[in-house]
Amino acid sequence: MGSKAGKDQKKRIILNCFDMTCVSHQSSGMWRHPNSQAGRYNDIEYWTNLAIELERGFFDCMFIADVVGVYDVYRGTAAAALKDAAQVPVNDPFAQIAAMSAVTNNVGFGCTAAVTFEHPYLLASRLTTLDHLTKGRVAWNVVSSYLNSAALNIGMDRQMEHDERYDFADEYMEVMYKLWEASWEEGAVHRNKETGIFTDPKRVHPIKHEGKYFKVPGFHLGEPSPQRTPVIFQAGASGRGRRFAAEHCEAMFILTTGPEHAHKVTNEIRDVVEKAGRPRDAIKIFTLLTVVTGSTDAQAQQKYEDYLQYASPEGMLALYGGWTGIDFSKLDPDEPLSAMDNDSLRTTLESLTEDGGKNVSVRDVIKERCIGGLGPVLVGGPEKVADELERWVDYGGVDGFNLAYAITPGSVTDFIDYVRPELVKRGRAQTSYAPGTLREKLVPRANGSYTADDHPATKYRGSLVGEESVDDDTTDSPWAEAATPFHAH
Ligand SMILES: Cc1cc2nc3c(=O)[nH]c(=O)nc-3n(C[C@H](O)[C@H](O)[C@H](O)COP(=O)(O)O)c2cc1C
Repeated sequence: MGSKAGKDQKKRIILNCFDMTCVSHQSSGMWRHPNSQAGRYNDIEYWTNLAIELERGFFDCMFIADVVGVYDVYRGTAAAALKDAAQVPVNDPFAQIAAMSAVTNNVGFGCTAAVTFEHPYLLASRLTTLDHLTKGRVAWNVVSSYLNSAALNIGMDRQMEHDERYDFADEYMEVMYKLWEASWEEGAVHRNKETGIFTDPKRVHPIKHEGKYFKVPGFHLGEPSPQRTPVIFQAGASGRGRRFAAEHCEAMFILTTGPEHAHKVTNEIRDVVEKAGRPRDAIKIFTLLTVVTGSTDAQAQQKYEDYLQYASPEGMLALYGGWTGIDFSKLDPDEPLSAMDNDSLRTTLESLTEDGGKNVSVRDVIKERCIGGLGPVLVGGPEKVADELERWVDYGGVDGFNLAYAITPGSVTDFIDYVRPELVKRGRAQTSYAPGTLREKLVPRANGSYTADDHPATKYRGSLVGEESVDDDTTDSPWAEAATPFHAH
């Protein structure tokens, strides 16, 4: 039975598939299960088939995580991570998106890229390219990263301090918005074969950015893409992370333990959004969840127990070491964890229990999170799962879910075959896609494919019209009038 609030509101549930271009994303050891295709992550057909499957189930988006660096906190080495393929080896998350978009028409692609390790001038270009090739179906999940191993390998002594990473990210966003929204005016691109003018230089402007962290004098390399600024996702939920999200994101990815916890977290986040001067519903909120389902509760439970046989505690502890910055090998397996404040994932510890992980032991983490990783696991048949999803939405205040897999692509297929029909019956799942770009489908009050008035990118759009443009001194060139100088006789 759905909750009462659910019957009244019938809020549509947003469904994202949560994945990563690696073997073992959230659930450790499951790649060894006979039905798992996780080891095929190098095959483009694996990704294109998954994209087609997602559209069969009318999923909104594929949310692709990416982590720079390896999980080497556990026992001070990456050995456990390598043995269990715990997010290593990992491929670039962008590459398969173009192929997935070529075999689909509607599903979106939320791609993670950290601001910490790549210059904005380069990342802006990569995202614009994808937005063109997907016809406006790209979101960027803005993360500030958390693994020290990444910082070391790009030549830093250590990663930036937690809050400074967000100051850095603020300026990063400013540069991105200037490149995407300000440097190329609407109509700058003529594509005119008669005049021989592809782009009017007078309508292309250097952004002349000079800040604490970045200096970008020129203009964006790519012409404006369908959405200009891709839909902005964000993950990271410390106080500073929430302030960043409240200002910049259009959808936020959170970790919660259940509907009660979600209720508290989503209210807090929407308060911060309001304080930042945006409507409470300006951002969509997705929570991480792994669903193990079948035709009945008993069948789902059987599957879960079957999966558990393949669980890898060492792989899980490698992941948790990176996520929390804590070497679990040094802890007594039965001692409760205390909420530790470090430069890694503060949110991870907070999400283990509502009281900040104080009563959770290492042994609990292993047992409960080998499947599901950073998020909870929901085991049940269609009605039980649908009931719980509704409670998460109606009471918990989330707009949807980032559904991680236990088995890939089996978990997605099971969700589509068992849970989706029940959600459709309850009026909770979309049965067709809204037209347009990802932003048009997902973001309330968007300006068509462009950011809404309350979004900080919007104020940059057209802001350099009438300002200095690319110096056009080709008019007095002897070649300027000769549009076709070399006639074939
Ligand atoms: C749900 C969730 C998902 C995240 N996904 C990624 C990711 O895919 N890649 C990454 O580098 N960081 C990821 N992060 C890390 C955040 O961007 C951020 O660096 C980290 O959470 C520390 O910030 P916080 O204390 O504000 O949470 C994620 C964080 C959360 C909470």
